[in-house]
Amino acid sequence: MSDNTHVIPLERLNHAIRLLVRGFGSSEGEVEAVASNLIDANLTGHDSHGIGMLPRYAAAFLEGGLKPNTHVKVQLDAGAMLRLDGDAGFGQVIGHEAMALGIERAKAHGSCIVALGNSHHLGRIGAWAEQAAAAGLVSMHFVNVISRAIVAPHGGADARFGTNPFCAGVPMTGRDPVILDFATSVIAQGKTRVAMNKGELVAPECLLDNTGRPTCEPRYTVVPPFGALLPFGGALGGHKGSGLAFMCELLGGALAAGATQRSDESSKKRVLNGMFSVLVDPDALTDRAAFEAEALAFTDWVKASPVREGFDDVLIAGEPERARRAQRTAQGVPVDATTWREITEAAASLGVDPAEVNRAAGLGG
Ligand SMILES: NC(=O)c1ccc[n+]([C@@H]2O[C@H](COP(=O)([O-])OP(=O)(O)OC[C@H]3O[C@@H](n4cnc5c(N)ncnc54)[C@H](O)[C@@H]3O)[C@@H](O)[C@H]2O)c1
Repeated sequence: MSDNTHVIPLERLNHAIRLLVRGFGSSEGEVEAVASNLIDANLTGHDSHGIGMLPRYAAAFLEGGLKPNTHVKVQLDAGAMLRLDGDAGFGQVIGHEAMALGIERAKAHGSCIVALGNSHHLGRIGAWAEQAAAAGLVSMHFVNVISRAIVAPHGGADARFGTNPFCAGVPMTGRDPVILDFATSVIAQGKTRVAMNKGELVAPECLLDNTGRPTCEPRYTVVPPFGALLPFGGALGGHKGSGLAFMCELLGGALAAGATQRSDESSKKRVLNGMFSVLVDPDALTDRAAFEAEALAFTDWVKASPVREGFDDVLIAGEPERARRAQRTAQGVPVDATTWREITEAAASLGVDPAEVNRAAGLGG
């Protein structure tokens, strides 16, 4: 761990981040939802979608693009199909409410399609698959991003997509669910911000500079002049990441939200997500016990593959996040000094005393 990184005990971080989020004027329920969702992203190892987003949220709020204390609105209720509008409310609240409605309908009808538009940043999409899995439901989520375009299509030299995440979750009684959750870019955009804040380069074949040439400098997706992230899959398989990102745009964007990335949002701080979710109750579709027995047997069979040279283990999606959550819950959450400074500056911009936030985090001040 570098000297420039603070390791903040979970209890202190909970306290400090709740202080900051109160600066949005949020209800206590919203403070809890936003703080716990962001901190959980850090706990799972996805610092890109954790508390480091708060400076962006603060800027979006001050600009009028993020509306605290907003709840999801039902635009169409067709029983097993819901079209919902997030009205630029905190994604941590809107996402939870949208999933709760979808879960209720999937329990009643066997499945539900939730088309959610206009939510502010939904954070780590795996949180929504975890919510569905905790209710015993299988789920799939295709998400688009309305912000500045940041991902080049396969073969393209400039950005045309967001990092459009795809996520699927499968519950398994008596075991942890399988949660596959990733950005369709080769790395998440927030990971370039984290790398820049730490003064690190990103791996080759992740980024293009502003002229469309390969670079390892994370700044090309953080500060102008902007380049682009590449879709996942590399030179041989980039058409697959690019194709999935495209589908996220068509389903999460055009179908669910009614807006795709081509809308020019480059001058705005807000980050809007559209999400097309499908929730399925295995009890309604099949024999849950037989389905789960087969899924468990398959999981064990996959994990029995001999470990290849250069790897430590064969992991199933969701395992890395749970391992990291257990470790960081016990040992504290690392936050690099630049990100922490930006967080305290965001607190000040919201009228919250940064010294108090530092004290709450145990960082003096
Ligand atoms: N809201 C938004 O606009 C938005 C946009 C992009 C990404 N995101 C979020 O960013 C987060 C990070 O995305 P990412 O692309 O950096 O994730 P990532 O590259 O770390 O991949 C994570 C997925 O891969 C699995 N995984 C990781 N290592 C594995 C291994 N060795 N073996 C098997 N499975 C493994 C994880 O369990 C997880 O399902 C996600 O939670 C995503 O939802 C959100």
